[in-house]
Amino acid sequence: MNFKNVPGHIAVIMDGNGRWAKKRNLHRIQGHIEGIKSLKSIIKAVMAYNIKYLTVYAFSSENWQRPQDEVDSLMDLLYEYINSELPYLVKNKIRLNFIGNISKIPEHSRKSLQNAADKTGKFGRLNLTLALSYGAREEILNAASQIAKDFKNNKINIEDLDEDMFSSYLYTSGMPEPDLLIRTSGEERLSNFMLYQAAYTEVYFTKTLWPDFRKKNLDAALKNYEKRIRRFGKT
Ligand code: IPE
Ligand code: IPE
Ligand code: MG
Repeated sequence: MNFKNVPGHIAVIMDGNGRWAKKRNLHRIQGHIEGIKSLKSIIKAVMAYNIKYLTVYAFSSENWQRPQDEVDSLMDLLYEYINSELPYLVKNKIRLNFIGNISKIPEHSRKSLQNAADKTGKFGRLNLTLALSYGAREEILNAASQIAKDFKNNKINIEDLDEDMFSSYLYTSGMPEPDLLIRTSGEERLSNFMLYQAAYTEVYFTKTLWPDFRKKNLDAALKNYEKRIRRFGKT
């Protein structure tokens, strides 16, 4: 498909895996497994459109409160995904990055994430960022406390603190802000995702459950985005 303009950075709240599984009388984890297929399909599609940034919300800081067996399965899936996809990422020159409170992720998964980030660090055909153990409030608080420390240690002057400097303390430092945020599954809320960065992001909600979200659904979102008039507060 051809679009007049495509977003430079797409962020996705991949929601609805559990409901997808429930509808089919399957275990919730089957929904997460199917959701990985959607992720792979969307990565391929965004590369074809020459979109440079894709950030996906894979696990929130609140998702730790889910039943332990689901948390464990999600962490196992993450580990398997990183290890099985690394050759694909390298082959396609995709840079893998992650944002969130990574210290909470089990050590073996954390190591494989770090390894994948190191091995793909020089690429940039697509910047794929996984938001893991991510919470925007935690991210903003963390920035505030780092700024306070740097001020105390005379590393920064408080008069220099502006939006650019503040942004550089967020997990997303160096990344452009998302142009389009997609949330699947019919929920119309941000669930603690990108609260600072999404100030002027266009938001697209769809009832499609994440495991059903494939290229044609992305095309519908991009078709919709193409019509948006972004004013950024101006006339
Ligand atoms: C999104 O799907 C994946 C994660 C939050 C890890 P859900 O697991 O939230 O699926 P629903 O919302 O229960 O259907
Ligand atoms: C948001 O989905 C987090 C991810 C998709 C990773 P949730 O399913 O956790 O959000 P709520 O609980 O419906 O707000
Ligand atoms: Mg959900």
